[in-house]
Order: sequence, then C-alpha cells, then structure tokens
Amino acid sequence: MGNLYHNKCLFKMNILILFCLIFSPVHGLNLTPIVNLTSGPIQGKVTEYESIDVYQFLGIPYAKPPVGKLRLQLPVKPDPWTEVKSVTDFGPACFQPMNPVLNIPYTGKTRIPMVPLHDVILVTINYRLNAFGFIYFGANEPRIPPNIGFQDQLFALKWVHENIQMFGGDPNSVTIFGESAGSMSISAHLLSPPSKGLFKRAILESGTVYTDHDVDVLITDSWKLYNKTSCSKSEDVLECMQNLTANEILNSLDNKLVAFTFTAGGNILPYEPSKFSYKLLEHYLRAQLERAYSDLFFVCPTYIFGHQYASYLGKQGGKVYAYYHTQRPKAYLPFFNEWMGTFHSSDIPYVFGLPLINPGYSQKDISLSREMMKIWTHFAENGEPPMVGETKWKPFQEKMSAMILNIDDWGKTELERVEFCLKEWDYLYPHVIHAMGKLNLNHVTKDVLRDDN
Ligand SMILES: *[C@@H]1O[C@H](CO)[C@@H](O)[C@H](O)[C@H]1NC(C)=O
Ligand SMILES: *[C@@H]1O[C@H](CO)[C@@H](O)[C@H](O)[C@H]1NC(C)=O
Ligand SMILES: *[C@@H]1O[C@H](CO)[C@@H](O)[C@H](O)[C@H]1NC(C)=O
Repeated sequence: MGNLYHNKCLFKMNILILFCLIFSPVHGLNLTPIVNLTSGPIQGKVTEYESIDVYQFLGIPYAKPPVGKLRLQLPVKPDPWTEVKSVTDFGPACFQPMNPVLNIPYTGKTRIPMVPLHDVILVTINYRLNAFGFIYFGANEPRIPPNIGFQDQLFALKWVHENIQMFGGDPNSVTIFGESAGSMSISAHLLSPPSKGLFKRAILESGTVYTDHDVDVLITDSWKLYNKTSCSKSEDVLECMQNLTANEILNSLDNKLVAFTFTAGGNILPYEPSKFSYKLLEHYLRAQLERAYSDLFFVCPTYIFGHQYASYLGKQGGKVYAYYHTQRPKAYLPFFNEWMGTFHSSDIPYVFGLPLINPGYSQKDISLSREMMKIWTHFAENGEPPMVGETKWKPFQEKMSAMILNIDDWGKTELERVEFCLKEWDYLYPHVIHAMGKLNLNHVTKDVLRDDN
C-alpha cells in the first residue's frame, strides 16, 4: 500500500511541505538524483512545466501492503531495500467500490498536476478506505482496532517527518490539507495526541469530525458486512476476514455513500469529538434543501470546528482563517447540475491548478486557480493567508467572518452564514442530520484554514 506523491481517492489527505526547490542542473535527463530514504534508495523522474523542472517520486511505499495477516491491523514499515527503487509511476489506488453518486470506478490513475508555481513539496498519500480502513466490530473483536485509516495517515505523517529532509523539505514546516473525508481526517489529526508535532498547519476544505457518526451504526454495519461474506459461519472474525479476497469484501458492501466512518476510541481520537445535547425541533424543514445539506454536513461543522479551535488556539496565540468558496468551476464534474451551484469538492480543481492544464475552464477559473494556489502555499509558508485584493484576511479570533473565494467577489467577506451556524448549531445538529440520513453531495463548500504557531 501507500503511494507517496500519489493520491486519488475522493478520500484523501495531502501534505504540503515547504521546500527550497533544488533546481536540477541536468537538463535533458529525465531521472532525478538518487534519494536515500531511511528504508532505502529511490529514484524518480524529472518533468517540466512552464520551463521549471519538477521532480516526481511516485509510488513510494511508506508501509507494507495491508494484505493477509496485515489486513485490518496497524500499518508496519516496509522491509528495507538496498537496490535503487524506481519510483516513476503511480501505484494502484486503494481498494474501493464504484463511487455510488458519480457511478464511476476509481482507477488509481487520476492525475493531479503538481503545478510547480510555488516552492513546495506536495505529498499525497493512500490510506485504507471504507471497510478496509474503518470496519469496527466493537468489543467482540478487540484485535481489530478502530480508525485504521487514520492510523495509516498517522504513519504517513511520521514517514514525512523522518524522510522529507532528504528531498530538501523542512519537517517542521508541514501543512496538511484535505477535502471531504480528507477534511474530516485533518480535523481528527488536529485533535489527535500522537499526531502532535508532526505538522504545523492545517487546511480543512469542507468537513470535520463534527459530521454525523455513530458507533452503534458502525458496529452493526460491520457485522452486516461480515454476515454477507463466506465468513458468516466462522468464529474467528479477524483470521477469517484476513483470508477473504479483497473483492469479496468489496462485493459485500452496501451501496451507501458514507459507510464505515471514524469512531471515537483508540489513541487518535480518544474522546467523542462532538458533544451536542438534543433539543427539540425541525428547524430546517422550511429551509432550502441545498442549503440544509450544506450547512449540516459541511458548512456549519467546519465553521463550528474552526470557531472552537480558534478559542482553544487563541490562548496559545494560534490563528484560524475561514473561507467560503462560491465559484462554480466550468469543467469539473459536469454531471452536477447547474442548480446545485458550487458543490462539495468544487474547490479541488482550483487548489491543484486543473484549469491551467485541462480544457473547458473559463478565464475566471484560471484566475481563481492561480489565486487559490497562491493562498494555499502562502499559508503553508507563512502561517497566514496573503492579502485578497485590497482586503486583509483577518483571523476568526478578530472577526467572525469568512473570506469569499470567487473572482467576481474578490476581497469580499461573508458574515451571515457564520453567524447562523454559531447561533443555530446546537439546535440543528442532533435532529436534522439523523433525519436526513444519507449524504448528498450538493452543497456549497466552506472551509477553515488554521495556523498553529
Ligand atoms: C546515498 O547512499 C549512497 C550509498 O550509501 C551514497 O553513495 C550516496 O552518496 C548517498 N546519497 C546522498 C544524496 O546522500
Ligand atoms: C449476523 O449474524 C448473526 C448470526 O446469524 C446474528 O446473530 C446477527 O444478528 C447478525 N448481525 C447483523 C447485524 O445482521
Ligand atoms: C485461513 O486460511 C488458513 C490457510 O488457508 C487456514 O488454515 C485457516 O483455517 C483459515 N482460517 C479461517 C478462520 O478461515
């Protein structure tokens, strides 16, 4: 498992690391110098964008493949190697079902350019997903720990900490960022005791551990899956699950978009992150559906997390910056209808520079992409976002507003939704989220940037 510098799951966590780019003197050659990792030497390839050399190291193993006796167990380091390992191609994607919303298979070859317009090292990781990463049988099978997917991420963070210097990176200047389940993961690492010290800054691109999750549902779903497999008669849950083919596990999954999510328990998330009391009401029934989904699943949880984190960090001098992304990309995931507006994940093409290299985007998309890459990397480098037009981006602690990321509203901020979320959240969370049940991907993304230092 584990392909560093590769990612590509809807679920992902990227690590942005500040970096003094070593410009290669060896034009014409397409291999990088050999890099000595703690586990052995590797050699990547050199590509070029706008006359800048980009070193790519693809498919670096940070752990052993989680198969056989390693399935559903904590990650372990790969055996060291001595021959130079060629890392010039992406590894396979993590095992996962077809995306039930988009109805497309994951191929593992989705390209994310590493557009080298800024001096950063981009690290993307694979981690175990769905049942492979989050199945949990509770106390009846204590040999299978909760949140294995988070454990992979933690392991990868440690890998970065130990190895990034070999690439010219600074292990003390790591920024982690993620979208959707990736964003939830980032918020988990903000709360995780063993993740402390492994990164300095974090960007949540929509979604936190305040999103709905229920350990009883998780355990029931885990047993349901178990019962569907040929293991159902076996007494030895762990060993039998380890004996199955990965495809049998995949084929036993329900067609749920969000199944096998994180749970409180274990070293990474020792406590229940959201403790909201029930109150009565159906506050949202009159509200617009899009907005209801957005607020509940992503917008409000992210604002609330940012707000609470800001109060916590404020005591230590840290800062949280919020943004509200509202520009709908012209060419990204066209099956999201116009009426859905700026949908969940629509900030991804901008952050990764897709409008600069792929057809179909507008001039405004290109401009926003350049600006957002500047913001992300400026934040990773300096711990604060740059000026947005004429506007200074104030931290949450100074002003409870979010910077709007839209070329047509450049430099404007929004207050209304932040205030709404802070005021109504206790009310909304317990009810509507359960009533709505299934996640739908229509909503505006909303986000928090945070600096720890
Ligand atoms: C990597 O290790 C090899 C073998 O020990 C050594 O010859 C080489 O100089 C090392 N390269 C770097 C960049 O440290
Ligand atoms: C799984 O099967 C066992 C044995 O037949 C049964 O007791 C249990 O209720 C089933 N669990 C679920 C969640 O279906
Ligand atoms: C798992 O497979 C091994 C090797 O084929 C076999 O000996 C063992 O009985 C199997 N265990 C279970 C619980 O199915």
